[in-house]
Amino acid sequence: MHPRPFLSRYIRHTLLLLLALCLVSSGLYSFASEHTLSIIPAPEKVNYGQGELNISHGLSIERTSDENAEFAASYLNELLKKTHTVTVSSGASAAPKVIFLHRQPEGSPDESYQLTITSSGIEISASSRAGYLYGVVTLWQILSDHLQTIPVVQINDKPRFKWRGFMLDSARHIQSEEFILKLLDYMALHKLNVLHWHLVDDQGWRIEIKRYPKLTSVGAWRPQTMPPYQSHVQGSYGGYFTQEQIKQIVAYAAKRNITVVPEIEMPGHSSAAIAAYPELGSAPEPLHSPPAGWGIFPNLYNVNDSTFTFLQNVLLEVMELFPSPYIHVGGDEAIKDQWKANPAVQARMHELGINNEDQLQSWFTGRIEKFLNAHGRKMVGWDEILEGGLAPNATVMSWRGTKGAIAAARQGHDTVLTPNRPLYFNYRQSDAADEPPGRVPMNTLQDVYQFDTLSSTLTPTEQAHILGVEACIWTEYVITQDRVEHMLFPRLAALSEVAWSDPSNKNFHNFLSRLPDELERTKKLGLHPAESVFEVRVHAEPITNPDQATIALSTQGSYGEIHYTLDGSDVKPRSSRFNQPIHISFPTTLKAQAFDGEVPLGNPITRRLTLEEVLRRDSRELDQCTGGGGIQLEQDPPRNRERPVFLVNFQQPCWIYHNVEMQYIHSFNVGVGSIPYIFYGPSEEKHKSQPMGTFAPRLDIHLDSCKGNVISSIFLAKAVRKDGVTELKGENISAIKGSHDLCFEMQNPDPKTVWLLNYIQPIAAK
Ligand code: ACM
Repeated sequence: MHPRPFLSRYIRHTLLLLLALCLVSSGLYSFASEHTLSIIPAPEKVNYGQGELNISHGLSIERTSDENAEFAASYLNELLKKTHTVTVSSGASAAPKVIFLHRQPEGSPDESYQLTITSSGIEISASSRAGYLYGVVTLWQILSDHLQTIPVVQINDKPRFKWRGFMLDSARHIQSEEFILKLLDYMALHKLNVLHWHLVDDQGWRIEIKRYPKLTSVGAWRPQTMPPYQSHVQGSYGGYFTQEQIKQIVAYAAKRNITVVPEIEMPGHSSAAIAAYPELGSAPEPLHSPPAGWGIFPNLYNVNDSTFTFLQNVLLEVMELFPSPYIHVGGDEAIKDQWKANPAVQARMHELGINNEDQLQSWFTGRIEKFLNAHGRKMVGWDEILEGGLAPNATVMSWRGTKGAIAAARQGHDTVLTPNRPLYFNYRQSDAADEPPGRVPMNTLQDVYQFDTLSSTLTPTEQAHILGVEACIWTEYVITQDRVEHMLFPRLAALSEVAWSDPSNKNFHNFLSRLPDELERTKKLGLHPAESVFEVRVHAEPITNPDQATIALSTQGSYGEIHYTLDGSDVKPRSSRFNQPIHISFPTTLKAQAFDGEVPLGNPITRRLTLEEVLRRDSRELDQCTGGGGIQLEQDPPRNRERPVFLVNFQQPCWIYHNVEMQYIHSFNVGVGSIPYIFYGPSEEKHKSQPMGTFAPRLDIHLDSCKGNVISSIFLAKAVRKDGVTELKGENISAIKGSHDLCFEMQNPDPKTVWLLNYIQPIAAK
């Protein structure tokens, strides 16, 4: 942690403000292009005035008789006490006052507010609870920037979209109630207003249903976190939320203007429920527990009336707990093999005059929609619900790109944009060697920020069906809460700006200029954001001498200035500035960090540069020979310590190391590991049932491409079924010269195992 030089940032802001004041002679003026206050999401209109409000004696929050403002006032009080040094008093105090004013709606959107800071006090005016809350949130962000004074300013703000969502998967790995409350605060502080809560999936049923206790006594527990060779987790693994806990979460959210939309998956992703009540299933064999492992399981609910009775009874309890106008019923990835093979399902289909299984799913979903509509609720489903014909009033969540949203809007249906690229935050945010597990490829902060909400694709009438946007985090590989935080923050802040801010106020460079304060606020809330966008990356340019190298430094966001030292001293804003490649001799200790003026960005890095160190590659830094795709994963992870992370395309484990200068290399050591083949789906079942051969497992190194000659093979026998990473030594290949791409390819006879590469360590020729 570095102390934040708030004051220097403030001085810079003040200078900018003075400059602006010279340009505009009097009164309030618009300052649209540069946000001197680090407010996220960017407000609609910010008009700076002359002067400042002195808050060195703290603030006094006026009591209010407006019951809508009451929560906002107490929230501000509570927030400031938790995160700020500014003192807060109430009643007769000499400190400047924060007052709340009721404004007549005048047809303005319900969530709008006006925040006015003058040299004598602060006024928040709104016509709704949400408006007051968002005024308070903006004020809280402003106060975090400055210690003694804040600028005179008037902010008029309103949202772009009404659905500003975030989906949390609590089914694959559950989180604590306390953690979810923290997320709700983060959401409120970024003006996000929908928590879509994925409570049910194959691997676990996480919501107490009183009428069906086995849903949680059986369905909430699986044998292990992930199927291991030997489990590190003793006993069963899982958990669930009681109805009491859910009521508390929903009430906590409601106070913060957040609707919790529950998701109860059907007809697929239902293994946990079927394990609890086998009569609900479509397969002849019962399930004994929710499965461990990932992918698409074939288990579907059957279409008996008794199954609909079960689902309706579940939904009645769900609707009792969640006042949300929307109930999400999943509908994704329902592969139909079991329905095709089940005579009773087929007979029902024919009796109904339904031609195929996609239409049967549509009939299934339509029947559920009718039930929800009859209870005053609207149904949401993933975009697969379009396939056999959309239920009459359904809202579509478009996750496989935006095609589903376009189709739904053109059919006159409401839709929410949740495309996996770039709005799935379980995808990694950078290709650095220290990114935790998640999917490949990357959804960078910039990808999220610049997400196009189809405004030029749809007509205005169709566009009106886009309720908004939502980011999703699926937790198969995002096992722990701190990892969820790393994947969410600050990408969720970028999403908040997509969801809330007018596109004319959006600019990624400007967002990055506000991000250091945003990250600081996130940490004050006790959350751990990723700083990947600011962290310095080191690239050794083609090496032409084994004793020296030319080093280039960069950051993902290309924001600020990179400074460095080569003498082991700590890096400061006055250290050498990187502006062209640096020549170094091995060994050298490099320290580097990016700065925005005096403000440090991200964490400093230290690298002890030697020829072997700069040639080393983590699997996360290598390309997959298959192009995109792949997963960064851990082996069956104990939850309480760091584990090695492997990037692999499990269907074809091979990695490309580009432009290797072979004349400096004697051989390659590799770090390898393995996991059982824990992936499910039609192609995976075929894969696992086909032996691949009787040879000994090995890692082949091909020259130039994966089709090129094998220049060396490293046998994996010493690493078979070993936990963690095993280092294996390769043979002498010093006869090969020149610059080449190398393909490292696992040759594996056992379809039930996936071999993993953790790192490649070239050994220098002497
Ligand atoms: C999904 O990602 N299967 C909705």
